[in-house]
Amino acid sequence: MSKVTVVGAGNVGATCANVLAHKDVVKEIVLLDIKGDFARGKALDSWQQAPIDYYSTSIKGTADYADTANSDIVVITAGIPRRPGMSRDDLISSNAKIVTSVTKSILEHSPNPIIIIVSNPLDVMTYAADKASGLDSSRVFGMAGILDTARYRAFLASALNISPKDFQAVLMGGHGDTMVPLPRYTTVAGIPVTELIDEETLDAIVERTKKGGGELVKLMGTSAWYAPGAAAAQMVATIVRDENRVFPCCALLSGQYGLKDLFLGVPVKLGKNGIEQIIELQLNEDEMALLNKSADHVTKVMGVFNDMNVL
Ligand code: LAC
Repeated sequence: MSKVTVVGAGNVGATCANVLAHKDVVKEIVLLDIKGDFARGKALDSWQQAPIDYYSTSIKGTADYADTANSDIVVITAGIPRRPGMSRDDLISSNAKIVTSVTKSILEHSPNPIIIIVSNPLDVMTYAADKASGLDSSRVFGMAGILDTARYRAFLASALNISPKDFQAVLMGGHGDTMVPLPRYTTVAGIPVTELIDEETLDAIVERTKKGGGELVKLMGTSAWYAPGAAAAQMVATIVRDENRVFPCCALLSGQYGLKDLFLGVPVKLGKNGIEQIIELQLNEDEMALLNKSADHVTKVMGVFNDMNVL
């Protein structure tokens, strides 16, 4: 019987709301956008799909934060997407203000929601929402790892001509070119992927994964939405069902992996309270070095955010 708000009725937000409605696990989705009519149109279109695809989840579009009152979960996708030639970090000057002000407006109407950030630069926008909300950090986290591992698994599925259903993988670090796919923790129906693929092909897939978002920006002139929206919807459904599933998510580290006071992609257990546990893997020296490099990069962008004084 949950109420979920999705902020931003652009491609990612609308896809997230639509995919979540198809799962039929929440009572109500509010799709909020400063362009109220656009949000109302997207919501109405999704609602008109309900008799065809059989779901009862209601979807309402609005520009009024009062309509989001008492949301259990809020997914924030607001902000501008990348254009060709931009890195996610280039978005900070516009998106930092948007994400902080959206978070504050949400908190005026929902006292203790779980907030999932999708806006970029992802790790730092999650940090921004955490600071702006004052919520317990187990309730504020970012969607990136599910998307990045999905890309990695999809590339592997194509290369091996095996169903994407059978790929399991962990990927850590920031949502950017420094992300750390972990071949040592990648399996195909329980079989270590390294037994099925040669090193050169696997290395090429790892590199393609790191730039997976950019590949799509180049092709489409804007950033992706099907897989990002579906990934956020999967996180919401997991929380609503209190499943304790394990996914890589962007979470506040407080000493895990020797890192603290920064948000970074790590495997977590997701349940009704948000992040129920951060899982610590025994990374080897090379993996740890890559994770530290990614952490350094995210820390630098966090510094840029702090210097903006938008909180
Ligand atoms: C991407 C955006 C959503 O990776 O960050 O496609």
